[in-house]
Amino acid sequence: MGLSLKFKTNVLSAIVILGILSLRVAECSSHAEKLVYQALNCRKHTAFLTDFGAVGDGKTLNTKVFNSAIRNLSGYASDGGAQLIVPPGKWLTGSFNLTSHFTLFLEKGAVILGTQDESQWPPLPVLPSYGVGREAPGGRLSALIFGTNLTDVIITGNNGTIDGQGSIWWDKFRAGKLKLTRPYMIEIMYSNQIQISNLTLLNSPSWFVHPIYSSDIIISGLTILAPVDAKNTDGVDPDSCSNVRIEDCYIVSGDDCIAVKSGWDQYGIKVGMPTQHLFIRRITCISPYSAAIALGSEMSGGIQDVRAEDITAINTESAIRIKTAVGRGGYIRDIFARRLTLKTMKYVFWMAGNYNQHPDSNYDPKAIPEIKGINYREVVATNVTYAGKLAGIKSDPFTGICFSDMNITMNLKEDKLPWNCTDIDGVTSNVTPKSCASLPQKKDVTCLFPYDKQPIEDVQTKTCSYAH
Ligand SMILES: *[C@@H]1O[C@H](CO)[C@@H](O)[C@H](O)[C@H]1NC(C)=O
Ligand SMILES: *[C@@H]1O[C@H](CO)[C@@H](O)[C@H](O)[C@H]1NC(C)=O
Ligand SMILES: *[C@@H]1O[C@H](CO)[C@@H](O)[C@H](O)[C@H]1NC(C)=O
Ligand SMILES: *[C@@H]1O[C@H](CO)[C@@H](O)[C@H](O)[C@H]1NC(C)=O
Ligand SMILES: *[C@@H]1O[C@H](CO)[C@@H](O)[C@H](O)[C@H]1NC(C)=O
Ligand SMILES: *[C@@H]1O[C@H](CO)[C@@H](O)[C@H](O)[C@H]1NC(C)=O
Ligand SMILES: *[C@@H]1O[C@H](CO)[C@@H](O)[C@H](O)[C@H]1NC(C)=O
Ligand SMILES: *[C@@H]1O[C@H](CO)[C@@H](O)[C@H](O)[C@H]1NC(C)=O
Repeated sequence: MGLSLKFKTNVLSAIVILGILSLRVAECSSHAEKLVYQALNCRKHTAFLTDFGAVGDGKTLNTKVFNSAIRNLSGYASDGGAQLIVPPGKWLTGSFNLTSHFTLFLEKGAVILGTQDESQWPPLPVLPSYGVGREAPGGRLSALIFGTNLTDVIITGNNGTIDGQGSIWWDKFRAGKLKLTRPYMIEIMYSNQIQISNLTLLNSPSWFVHPIYSSDIIISGLTILAPVDAKNTDGVDPDSCSNVRIEDCYIVSGDDCIAVKSGWDQYGIKVGMPTQHLFIRRITCISPYSAAIALGSEMSGGIQDVRAEDITAINTESAIRIKTAVGRGGYIRDIFARRLTLKTMKYVFWMAGNYNQHPDSNYDPKAIPEIKGINYREVVATNVTYAGKLAGIKSDPFTGICFSDMNITMNLKEDKLPWNCTDIDGVTSNVTPKSCASLPQKKDVTCLFPYDKQPIEDVQTKTCSYAH
């Protein structure tokens, strides 16, 4: 079964046909076994990137090939869908667009390389909930792998690699030479039923994985690596999304490993789409200048019902950081985290109500964010400089904060107050070292972690197989 290409001999010379045939033979010997993988949906039709004339030498640009292959396979959306298999090789490309009922599968040894030729990254309009380009007012560039208005889209593989070759973008950003906001590695917007799994993602120009205005999303088994000094290389940024599961990822990056967002100031308030029902588990994070999990700073559409468990962070600036400011509006509420293992942290917990970066000067100074119901428990942290730096907003305190069962071992070389709390209100229980006066110790309180499951926790994948 699958897709066979019917070449018109009147337009193709015999030499081209022979060339393609010999490529196919060489390729068949290199991928001998059958593919077996887990996915939300399996596909009826299969094609290889090489069927469409791709060249995997790391030098030939394949942007047109990716786009035309996926356009071709979109024709099977209503007939069981299609998968595009990327074989071993180095496939240089600019931005390309995904389609519905579609799987992009990267075999072991397949590397998609983002080109450093800027003309291959087309501009896109700014995101409505941001109003402006985040890094330059003129707009933004399309992600390497982009999808919009889709349903049922999967990017997976046997740990194949996507390498954004981001260094040119990091250099431009540092030099203040960007004309448009840097591209992300993968961005999917206005879509549902999304799976991104079992891949290695390297060196994104900016954020790695950015689902926005989307729902029913599983992100699993990703190894995400960028130099820790590469600015804004966030790992996964669920942004105005519902029903999201992020699990079994290993992230080393130059910004937050997971950054939960929902739009920026007046633009985010107007769009009004929260990120909610987000479940994060079994994540390992190394990020010396940022957080394992950040909530904000763009949170103007609201963030609620976020649950995180079994998080490991090593040499990370903070474990969970809440960032907001006057002008954001929105809320961060019903946040639950448990079983955190932390080693070498500047701040275990950090909350800041003064993250005063704004899209423009037209933000509403009366748009006060509500931060309420923050529950963290079962935390073991060692070699910590500050246990908590918790600063709400004057006349808008952060309330309902609960910390229980925490053993935080301070870095003894530092002679600092472990906790510093201003404009916050809540309780602590069985927390060492003893917290500040605004979080009084109560006896044997266990902070809440909900017993009911979020619907995304029960979503199962199917076993898909394809023999070639
Ligand atoms: C990812 O790979 C792991 C181990 O190789 C496997 O157990 C898991 O099912 C895969 N997950 C998906 C979603 O493909
Ligand atoms: C995909 O391309 C092949 C080869 O050109 C063609 O035979 C087939 O009809 C195309 N499929 C669709 C859905 O366009
Ligand atoms: C990809 O999608 C964007 C947004 O819809 C569109 O502007 C662009 O033309 C598409 N690119 C291709 C190659 O189809
Ligand atoms: C995509 O969906 C959004 C939100 O529903 C809608 O505003 C937009 O027009 C759609 N775009 C396309 C190309 O269908
Ligand atoms: C995937 O590849 C990365 C990079 O080579 C490696 O660190 C990771 O352990 C691999 N993951 C799996 C499940 O094999
Ligand atoms: C903290 O240490 C105490 C005393 O050793 C121990 O009983 C408790 O289980 C520890 N808490 C956690 C969350 O590991
Ligand atoms: C403890 O943290 C400090 C930074 O505060 C770091 O320089 C040092 O290497 C860490 N020690 C260990 C044993 O990890
Ligand atoms: C505590 O934090 C406040 C506000 O962030 C700061 O002004 C103050 O200096 C800090 N206090 C100590 C003792 O570090």
